[in-house]
Amino acid sequence: MNYIKLRKNNLCVENISALNLAKKYKTPFYCYSLSQLKNNYYTLSNAFKNIKPIICFSIKSNSNLSLLKELRKIGSGADVVSVGELLKATKAGINPKKIVFSGIGKTEEEIKMAIKKKVLLINIESESELNLINKISKKISRKISIGIRLNPNVTGKTHQKISTGGKDEKFGLVYNDFIDLCKKVRKMKNLSLNGVSVHIGSQITSVDPFKKVLSMINKIINKTKINFKFIDLGGGMGISYTKKEKQINLKKYAKLVSKFLKNKDSKIIFEPGRFIIGNTGILITKIIYIKKSNNRNFIILDAGMNDLMRPALYNAHHEIVPLKKTRKFLRGNLKFVGPICESSDKFSNLKIFSKIREGEYIGLLNVGAYGMSLSSNYNTRPTIAEIMVSGSKHKIIRQRQSLENLVNN
Ligand code: LLP
Repeated sequence: MNYIKLRKNNLCVENISALNLAKKYKTPFYCYSLSQLKNNYYTLSNAFKNIKPIICFSIKSNSNLSLLKELRKIGSGADVVSVGELLKATKAGINPKKIVFSGIGKTEEEIKMAIKKKVLLINIESESELNLINKISKKISRKISIGIRLNPNVTGKTHQKISTGGKDEKFGLVYNDFIDLCKKVRKMKNLSLNGVSVHIGSQITSVDPFKKVLSMINKIINKTKINFKFIDLGGGMGISYTKKEKQINLKKYAKLVSKFLKNKDSKIIFEPGRFIIGNTGILITKIIYIKKSNNRNFIILDAGMNDLMRPALYNAHHEIVPLKKTRKFLRGNLKFVGPICESSDKFSNLKIFSKIREGEYIGLLNVGAYGMSLSSNYNTRPTIAEIMVSGSKHKIIRQRQSLENLVNN
């Protein structure tokens, strides 16, 4: 189900025309569809309904508090990687028993906070981290629930910069080290080894890599004979950014996981970010100028790479659409760029687009995940507002940063 689409040539977010929003709120801004968010969460939980996984939304993909509260209301947990994300998850009311703490560089302060909040699992990624947790647990005489992150040496067939499961990556423990660490943990009386976790990368659209991961986990279980309470398969489920690209086949993935779980009494955890939030968001931006240069039309937007980093960072493609489609066209070498002083500040090159003029608006699609959360103040630009639409209602869920706040820091 798609809640952001063209209706009678007007781009609509649920029942509201994006053009009306653009006239009401100062551009650029992110705009999310609440129904789309819920729809995505339920699509995922329904696909895996036979195994009833714990779904821990990966907060790094989008940490807006109102959106987190909405996810909490429909049952979501959280995957967090910093004390900031942990505090946001608990502020959103997410039950700590549904929070997993991941990350290779947790500081002592962060570990202590995770212990204080009694999260479900602290997924450790090195022997040094294990020793630190053990030291803390002894000091406070408390038993702490941990998981160990496996590096399965499986690459996710995705962009190199978002692939995390290869043996040369910094993440998790490779097979032999994993087995050695399990032996070590068993001697540590204050730690309960409750989980194995893995995350091989993001935007993975084929289930084959996940199949390899599951067989690696089976190998670990056979070797260690540990009956892990939780098997955390991470996130990574890919979505469709272009017409050609297909989202991951959840039915196939669910079948694999169900088969894997036979004769086990472990609980599955997922840490999806992009699948839940990716297509819920659009970035609405105004055309400041159209500049002709050297046979090119530079369409200069008021949103820049500081607002949406993915194209500059990963050459990521986000479809650009006019808020009002017309029958007239602009043709030629069309380059949609931002105002930032870097040549990588560009969003798309097109040959044809609906006729647009300076002062009009366009939308960039599928920016809900890693859009706002990767944004920055580069070029001393304020972080932009976020709007949530539900049916025919809309409201601000994060104010645009004030210039005063920006300038005084
Ligand atoms: N769990 C762990 C341990 C992760 O590192 C990540 C993402 C996730 C879960 C969620 O992955 P997802 O379901 O969203 O694929 N900035 C990049 C993506 C970086 C992903 C980092 N880790 C982008 O814009 O594509």
